[in-house]
Parts: sequence; structure tokens; C-alpha cells
Amino acid sequence: MTTIPDIATLAGEAAAETSGTATARARSAVLETLIQRDPGRFRILTGDRPTGRLHLGHYFGTLHNRVRLQNLGVETFVIIADYQVLTDRDAAENLPEYVEDLVLDYLAIGVDPARSTIFAHSAVPALNQLLLPFLSLVSVAELSRNPTVKDEIAHSRQSSVSGLMFTYPAHQAADILFCKANLVPAGQDQLPHLELTRTVARRFNDRYGGATPVFPEPEVLLSNAPLLLGTDGVKMSKSRGNAVTLAADADETARLIRGAKTDSERHITYDPANRPEVSSLVLLAALCQGRTAQEVAAGIGSGGAAALKRTVTEAVNDHLAPIRARRAEYGRDRTYLRQILRDGNERANAVADATLTQVRSAMNSNY
Ligand code: TRP
Repeated sequence: MTTIPDIATLAGEAAAETSGTATARARSAVLETLIQRDPGRFRILTGDRPTGRLHLGHYFGTLHNRVRLQNLGVETFVIIADYQVLTDRDAAENLPEYVEDLVLDYLAIGVDPARSTIFAHSAVPALNQLLLPFLSLVSVAELSRNPTVKDEIAHSRQSSVSGLMFTYPAHQAADILFCKANLVPAGQDQLPHLELTRTVARRFNDRYGGATPVFPEPEVLLSNAPLLLGTDGVKMSKSRGNAVTLAADADETARLIRGAKTDSERHITYDPANRPEVSSLVLLAALCQGRTAQEVAAGIGSGGAAALKRTVTEAVNDHLAPIRARRAEYGRDRTYLRQILRDGNERANAVADATLTQVRSAMNSNY
């Protein structure tokens, strides 16, 4: 039987954390090879909070990769984390609209509901029940030192930090483990949550699993997409209005990019360290056109910021045109959208019920 580690052990773990990203990156490269070789070995869980429409940062950061993995034949669960929305605000606003927006964005980029299960975690009671035994397996100290949660607390819109904010990484472990996912494609900010998920799985197995482990220890697949900045030169975010959404039209896209921050040097180069704003625009065009950033920059050369912005606008609008057309088409059929979600919820519930039955039996609580 394992016990929850004490503070001294935790301090040691914290010191090891800085090397975490490099390790995860190296491991992700190995996982890529394994996926190519045998996609049937993996089950993915990944998803988003329904807080508004998805933008290009999400698209090139994770969404694009999700569809690629689905198309390689990896079984995929896509979670709409509607309870998690409450972590950094006092009330969940516009949920029905935002949930539908997410489903629309997913379908538009090519998530295929016949192959991938799209569901909302609030609609899956057995998933949520896993949170209770999971919380018993993590210490308050572990929850307190999660760097992503700390950062979110610093930027929170809550009047005070709620218990949900503090415990949501354990809830996220339930999101991942209810379907026994063994692979989670995610960005670097999710690494602490994945580490906690692995800890929960390991401790549950040690404590209750006997000879047969109940849960896999899921691995993270870090996306290697470079970071795109918003049009104001800082991190893209829904709330700053500095990002081109998938749903935006061509004119709105042009307007946003025209207003993007650049610098006073006329000759366009790709130099992320010294010219972050210009380089992010160059990178965006490159990602849309499937070229290298250096090629795009060389093509514009002394054309200056105006030429750069014209190139970026055209590249983004061309790339998003088919996605936007699909989004508009699906958007006309709300009944279909709701049906997709109901089907996904139903599938997720069947899987979660089976897992909970197994958990209760492992814990000797199936009276
Ligand atoms: N925390 C993720 C985000 O903010 C959303 C999420 C919830 C998630 N549960 C998950 C991601 C499980 C991966 C796995 O974007």
C-alpha cells in the first residue's frame, strides 16, 4: 500500500520539474513513432473548456494535431469541459452557446463524430464520481504547488479562489482516466495536470488494483507547434480580442491583421527572439501555406509590414475558407449538433459506467 508522500519528498519532485518539458518532448518523439506504427494501441482523450470560439492559436497548437491523430486511426475522445469553466470565474456564462460553438469548431476542422466521441463532462455522472476516490489519493500540498493552477489563480476572475479551482486537476484526472485513455495530446501548460493524473492512476492501482491495474498511466503528447502571438504581440486569448477565430469572416480577419503590431524595420525577417511580433505574423502565414517561415520572410523582403499583412491575411483566409464553409453549413442545423453531443454523451456514459463498476469492485464498495 502506498502512502501520500510527505512535504520533503514533494520538494524533491519540484526540483525535478524544470527538466519535465525536455523529457516530455523527447518522449513525444518516441510516441509519434509508436503511433505511426500501431495507432490501435492508443486511446486519446483531449478537449477544451467552452469559453468561446476557438482561434488560430488553438488550431495550430492542438486542434490540427487532434484531427491528424484521429485520421491515423487513433480512437479519440474529445471532452467539452463545461464544469472546468467555473475554475476561474464565479458563474458559467453562455454555456449552451459556447458548447455549441465548440462542437461546430470541431466538426469544421474535421473531427469525425463517427470515429471520435465528443461529449460534455457534466453529462457523465460516473466520470464525476471518480473524483471522490481520486481526491483521497492526492495531498493538499500536491494540489497547492501545481504551477498552472497557481498561474490561473493569479489571473482569475473569481472574487475568491474556489475549491474547484484548487481541485480541478484531480477532476481532469477523472476526465482522462474514466475512458482509460493512455495518450493526451496537449500543450506544455497541461504537463502538471498529466503528472497528477499519472500519480492518481499509479496510487489507485497500488492501493486497490491487486494483480491487475485498473488504470493506465497516460502519457502526454506535446504538440511541437511553435507559439503564435496575438495581434497585440502578447499571448493569444479569447478575452483579449487579439486572435482570429475560426468562425471569423474574411473581412474581420483582414481588419484584425491590418491592426496587428509590427516594428519599424522595413525589411521582413524571421527572428522570433528579436522581432517577436513580425516573426509571429510570418510564422502564421507559413503555417497556413505549408512553407517555412524563412521562405515566407524572404518572399516579402523589403516589402515591409503592409506586404507582410497582405500575405498573412490572404494565407489565413485561403486556409480557413473550407473550414469556415463547413462551419457555416453545420451551423444551420442545430438539431444535428445537439444530436452529435447526445450520441457522444451516451457513448461516454457507457464507458464511464463500466469503469466506475470496476472501480467500486476494486474498492470493495459494490454492495
Ligand atoms: N484543461 C484543459 C484546457 O484548459 C481542458 C481539459 C479538461 C482537458 N479536461 C481535460 C485537456 C483532459 C486534456 C485532458 O484547455
